[in-house]
Amino acid sequence: MSDAPSRPSSFAEPGFALPGLGLGVATAATQIEGGNADTNWHRWAAKPGRIADGSTPARAADHWERVGQDIALLGELGVKHYRMGLEWARLEPRPGEFDTAAVAHYRDELTRLRQAGIRPLVTLHHFNNPWWFERVGGWESPSALPTFARYVTRVLEELGDLVDDWVTINEPNVYATKGWLDGQWPPGVTNSFGRTLTVMQVMATAHVQTYQAIHAAFPQAQVGVANHLRVFAPQKRWNPVHQLSATSGRYLFQAALTRAFSQGRFLAPFVQPKGVEPGRYYDFQGINYYTRSSVKGLADGVASHVPVNDLGWEIYPQGLVEVARWTHQHYPGPIWITENGTADAADRFRSRFLYDHLRAIAGSGLPIERFYHWCFTDNFEWAEGEEPRFGLVALDYLTQQRTVRDSGRFYADVIAHGGVTAQAHARWVAGQAYPR
Ligand code: FCB
Repeated sequence: MSDAPSRPSSFAEPGFALPGLGLGVATAATQIEGGNADTNWHRWAAKPGRIADGSTPARAADHWERVGQDIALLGELGVKHYRMGLEWARLEPRPGEFDTAAVAHYRDELTRLRQAGIRPLVTLHHFNNPWWFERVGGWESPSALPTFARYVTRVLEELGDLVDDWVTINEPNVYATKGWLDGQWPPGVTNSFGRTLTVMQVMATAHVQTYQAIHAAFPQAQVGVANHLRVFAPQKRWNPVHQLSATSGRYLFQAALTRAFSQGRFLAPFVQPKGVEPGRYYDFQGINYYTRSSVKGLADGVASHVPVNDLGWEIYPQGLVEVARWTHQHYPGPIWITENGTADAADRFRSRFLYDHLRAIAGSGLPIERFYHWCFTDNFEWAEGEEPRFGLVALDYLTQQRTVRDSGRFYADVIAHGGVTAQAHARWVAGQAYPR
């Protein structure tokens, strides 16, 4: 970028190098594309009161119409890895009918990315169902697995030659708990523990089948789940009930599910599905990391007197390495941080957040190969709407003008140098502190 440092760079303290770490940014189709795809989220958001600020995914970042501009912007930031999602409802607007224009659109996007030297990581499912799938029961329907398999087969035929890296499913634990326990997301079911488990179980099975399908067609592909992992801490450290909540939250929300999709082993309360053989079903462990939860009972809260972002989520950088270490102990192999970032509308602490998380990675000794910042631009943040600002690039929703934030310039500098220079720290990080 134009404002590369004029003095020679140095990784001397408080800088550090990030050798071998592929740096990129992440997005998801429903959160950035805009337009009127007939998805679970478009229908859900249409009913007032469900999205905090009344927005819908129809506007978002209008990325569908602005692909060229956005790829140019990725190039300007020097990004080499781009995680993007596919909108299943666009590709398959009616059961079994695939839309040739949507296929052509994604082929064009992927081709342009590759021509720009940017390696795509493609997510097949990121909380987004076509409405025709949702209305017959979605992931709870007896036909969920063959229906998803049909979509995957077609995507591989149409786009597979342009993609080497795949995320099968994004955050099955978050998708299931938000939709069937909290009820804040579609389909809006509350307190159904049994149905939450069913959805997780079916999604883990879908992952295993998708992993096999991708490898059957493209043996060299790299495939994984983007697994939402957080640190669970008892609200009162010595309280045995709180300790038990943390242990069971950790087990149910992440450990048992990670075992199921990584190894095809379904421990209680899951049930081993027919036809799923234990094996190794990941080429990388994808981790989405944002925060630490402070738990008591089933409630999941935030500790007092800790740094928090605009959404009140605790900022706990070393947690990224804690969850990555846990993952690596149980599931050795490459780790990709498929999402990490924060809501910071004023861009007051995002650079520090990035610095602290990257620094934790640098000192971890773990085989972390990729880091995808969430998000590239501001976007439609599900039930929170357009209000939270996660972008390295600020978005004016009315004009769709994109403006690179200071944190975006900092990240571009980190990419350009392969690490944080002392100069970059002084310029973008030193003056920032977390809100409490
Ligand atoms: C993750 C989601 C992603 C985004 C971030 C903030 O849980 O995968 O779509 O909403 O949170």
